Amino acid sequence: MTKKQTEYICSNCGYVSPVWFGKCPSCNLWDVAVSYERERKKSTKTIKVNKETLNSISLESKPRFLTGLNEFDRSIGGGIVPGSVTLLSGEPGIGKSTIMLQICEMVAKNGKVLYFTGEESAKQIKLRAERLNLKNQNNIDIVSSFDIEPTIESIETEDYILIVFDSLQTIKKGSLPGIPGSIIQVREAANDIVNKAKTTGIPIFIVTHVTKMGNIAGPKAVEHLVDCVLFFESGKKGYRILRTLKNRFGPSDEISVYEMSSSGLIQIEDISSIFVDEYSSAPGNVISVVNEGSRSFFVEIQSLVSKPIYGTPRKLTSGVSLDRVLLTSAVLTKRLGVPLDSMDVYVNVAGGLQIKDTATDLAIALSLLSSFSDKSIPVNFVSFGEIALDGTLRSVYGSEKRLDRINRSNKTGLYPDKKNGMHDVKDLFGFLRRIGNGS
Ligand code: TYD
Ligand code: MG
Repeated sequence: MTKKQTEYICSNCGYVSPVWFGKCPSCNLWDVAVSYERERKKSTKTIKVNKETLNSISLESKPRFLTGLNEFDRSIGGGIVPGSVTLLSGEPGIGKSTIMLQICEMVAKNGKVLYFTGEESAKQIKLRAERLNLKNQNNIDIVSSFDIEPTIESIETEDYILIVFDSLQTIKKGSLPGIPGSIIQVREAANDIVNKAKTTGIPIFIVTHVTKMGNIAGPKAVEHLVDCVLFFESGKKGYRILRTLKNRFGPSDEISVYEMSSSGLIQIEDISSIFVDEYSSAPGNVISVVNEGSRSFFVEIQSLVSKPIYGTPRKLTSGVSLDRVLLTSAVLTKRLGVPLDSMDVYVNVAGGLQIKDTATDLAIALSLLSSFSDKSIPVNFVSFGEIALDGTLRSVYGSEKRLDRINRSNKTGLYPDKKNGMHDVKDLFGFLRRIGNGS
């Protein structure tokens, strides 16, 4: 039995009330209440709960499948899982629609795919398809609309193997109030999409934008609903870096790198040295090796230590956490007597990369000392290791992988090791004297 009931929904935040409100009690905005007829299903039968023992549950019948774009497949944990929902977010113009259409093309070799666009017209998608020189266009259905409801309802009648919704902020669930992109629309549309993926087993990609503030608008509200969250960001020389922020089916810290060409995105399979290819051994520059997901690659840490320009010394960082730089500086001040506390300190990771790996501590320390003492570090030195507050150097996870990367690149590693005598920040000045050039 279905019964209709009038409710009032805040078109901004989705707050629901059985009575009208002038000012939303949740987001404090005025004139945002819209009436909405909600269908209430009332069952006259006693509700039965389906229970099954764990061992009687059969595993997914269909295996993962590869898109063929190797780097993308790795980013999502080794191919697409049937019934999974993946959120792809990033700034406008970064290449979300491009990579999605390229994925559609590769998957369309094996069956039909659906590309729902609320953002661009079918003609615009066609132009992009021509530019990308797509060969399997007869297997790619395009729906250009705002209202997703008819599409969601029609999905079961077609045999799609992949669906893309581009983008979450431009689609609307026709039966609900609120403009596309409002929190209520974003949440409800995402809910319907996730339900569809789970009931049909068709994998779905949802494209979303980030706001000017840098937050993932909408996606933040729906991240918990989806299986995988990917974030596209721009890096050095226009490289597009795809980060995996969440993955229920694989590692959540993978990165893959692409380059935008005149015919779409090209994957870069060997990223080991792309972020250090402009390294110059000027004082303050040091190479470190970081592990992100299954990848190990070199990064360049740059420091500038100088007399304060204004009265109070400034500490600024880009690409590494300010806290880690402050900790490292404090240890060097206390243990080596280097007066970093009274100096301006600027630390930067070349190429616009954001590094969370604590293994860069040692490189940060060396870089600060190198800039402070004006001694440069040769290009073939790579350092990694964590620094404890007592000044001791601590080993880090994945050391073998880092060493392997260093050895394969014919570089020399400097890392915490009692055998080579490097186990305290006190040893760093001796090291700089031995290898550093400069005054
Ligand atoms: P797009 O995929 O539309 O970005 P998003 O969906 O994230 O907003 O395209 C991004 C930019 O890439 C756009 O400015 C045009 C450019 N581009 C190329 O340089 N080469 C190409 O082959 C394509 C398709 C786009
Ligand atoms: Mg787009």
